[in-house]
Amino acid sequence: MKIFNELKRRKVFRVGIAYMFIAWLVAQVLQLVFESFGTPDWAIRTVLVLLATGFPLALFLAWAFEITSDGVKREHQLDRSQPITPKTIRRLRDNAPSAGKLNLLIYKSRCKGLANWDLVESILASSMRNNPANDITGVLVVTETHFLQVLEGPFEPLNATFERIARDMRHEGTQLISFTAIRERRFTDWAMHGIGLFDLNQELKSSLCLKFGEENGNVRLPNSAHEVMELLDILLSEEQLGSAAEK
Ligand SMILES: Cc1cc2nc3c(=O)[nH]c(=O)nc-3n(C[C@H](O)[C@H](O)[C@H](O)COP(=O)(O)O)c2cc1C
Repeated sequence: MKIFNELKRRKVFRVGIAYMFIAWLVAQVLQLVFESFGTPDWAIRTVLVLLATGFPLALFLAWAFEITSDGVKREHQLDRSQPITPKTIRRLRDNAPSAGKLNLLIYKSRCKGLANWDLVESILASSMRNNPANDITGVLVVTETHFLQVLEGPFEPLNATFERIARDMRHEGTQLISFTAIRERRFTDWAMHGIGLFDLNQELKSSLCLKFGEENGNVRLPNSAHEVMELLDILLSEEQLGSAAEK
């Protein structure tokens, strides 16, 4: 099953089928041409042998190489552990069915050094400066070691904002979790709402760690869209409870 999936992923089947179809087409056309020119049999046989030898070669090339945004690369040169970057998004931009519409983008990244409230406040200050003009709303969740951000907005400004954020030297390993069209915003009122998970009470921390796991002694920020929404539901309702208790 593993080898089957790998052959599928490397598009060996697709290339094989495409090759057979094209070879058949070429053979048909050549047969017509050869017949009308009265070409000798040995020439026809040579072309058929060449087409047949090309088949395993095409399969080998499909297995060994991959066409990427940076050109053709040897399969082993590809770093599959690399997160999806804004470059990938730029490549998708022209085909994006969601271009022009309202979009939701979620990503996770690692903080360089330890995050604290000062860092969160400086990010929020930038967000307040730029996001309203770009019609962007969202939430930023921060642990000591990681960021998780949900951004909502029109495709182009959202894409440009994400490219700027991903270049920010204060974090690394940006992992795109979701970039999809949505009907309506969830965080209408927030140019960017910051939630720092630095000083969680022990009870909440334990229950979040139980549900989402732990990373570097902190709550693990999830990397699937549905878990992110689940985490936000919990955090936002905890916030509401907190502010209700303060009143
Ligand atoms: C985790 C993280 C999230 C960020 N989120 C935003 C954001 O939502 N909007 C924004 O304009 N800048 C955001 N920034 C900051 C940008 O990377 C960049 O520093 C800033 O937009 C530059 O604009 P400024 O010169 O007005 O501060 C974020 C940075 C980090 C590290």
